Amino acid sequence: MPIINCDPYQVYINEDWNSFRNLLSRKDYSKIGVLVDENTALYCLPILQKYIHEFNFQIIEIKSGEHFKNLETCKEIWSHMLENGFDRHSLLINLGGGVIGDMGGFCARTFMRGMDFIQVPTTLLSQVDASVGGKLGIDFKDFKNLIGVIDDPKAVWIDDQFLKTLPARQLRSGFAEIIKHALIQNSQMWDELKQIENLENIEWSDIIYRSVQIKKEVVVQDKYEGGLRKILNFGHTLGHAIESENLNSEDYLLHGEAISIGMITESYISMKMTGLSKGEYQEIKKYILKIYPHFQNALDNEESILEKLIKDKKNKQGLLNFSLINKIGESVFDIVPEKSFIKEALLDYYKV
Ligand SMILES: NC(=O)c1ccc[n+]([C@@H]2O[C@H](COP(=O)([O-])OP(=O)(O)OC[C@H]3O[C@@H](n4cnc5c(N)ncnc54)[C@H](O)[C@@H]3O)[C@@H](O)[C@H]2O)c1
Repeated sequence: MPIINCDPYQVYINEDWNSFRNLLSRKDYSKIGVLVDENTALYCLPILQKYIHEFNFQIIEIKSGEHFKNLETCKEIWSHMLENGFDRHSLLINLGGGVIGDMGGFCARTFMRGMDFIQVPTTLLSQVDASVGGKLGIDFKDFKNLIGVIDDPKAVWIDDQFLKTLPARQLRSGFAEIIKHALIQNSQMWDELKQIENLENIEWSDIIYRSVQIKKEVVVQDKYEGGLRKILNFGHTLGHAIESENLNSEDYLLHGEAISIGMITESYISMKMTGLSKGEYQEIKKYILKIYPHFQNALDNEESILEKLIKDKKNKQGLLNFSLINKIGESVFDIVPEKSFIKEALLDYYKV
């Protein structure tokens, strides 16, 4: 795969691991740490170790999951680095999904005012989305990603062999961001994606490459989300509210599962407000419901979902702020939706 240039860093996809070793030798790092959770320690670390065994590195292991993406875990990481002689000339390799990447990057860029880090994303979601674009951070109180910075890694190293051990549900969760990238920017990719009915046995590298390209094109133009970058929020405004609403329920939704509902409902609002045709809306709904279950209970508490929308950090001066599509492959941002359309969209989700 060609290397994707996100100036000042590069995204390597299924590249020869010799180049990874070159990245590590490029500077005389005082220490190298590899941040893992218990799953990536088991499944991904042996792969990494095989390629970088000649380097001296320390493993920093934390507990997996969004629940641990917080200040307490950052303290563990910073303490480990402090007690083991890391300094600003050290390097942290973040080996894991979006939680490891976001939190590891944040810890690296704040430790002694900033040491280098490399993202080695191991979930589909982190390969096509979280590892690119420089958003780093942690959750605080009940708010996702409230504390953080935007800063660049030294490199992003993607290898689709890591996906072999990823549970099917996690793989499907990451696929939602690929669908989103096609819907907001690339109708041809959408036409190809919608032929996919089963996520098993897919040759991922080309899909990952094209998806990262779309994200890169957006973030290099608007790193700090002043305008264009907002289109990446398509499906995420309602999606986040639905995700938070179901966070503590027994059958909680993974991020991409909530985004699957968010993309359907925000496509409905797009049909009402920004000219998406009825035919395209139905096509989007039909395909997404082919890949994802029709989550019947997720929208039960409509009032609470609406309340969460009002608290969304994307709002400005108390007005809701949505990114929508006007047709498949074209998006618009800064749309203030009518509340009645949001309610209709939630209702319409249930209709088969
Ligand atoms: N920075 C950004 O721009 C951005 C964008 C999207 C999402 N995110 C963040 O990403 C996070 C979600 O990321 P995620 O979906 O990767 O979740 P995750 O990091 O929690 O990983 C999901 C699960 O898969 C396990 N896992 C990871 N790689 C594995 C592998 N190869 N084999 C087996 N198991 C493996 C993990 O241990 C974890 O249990 C959220 O915190 C979200 O806020 C950030």
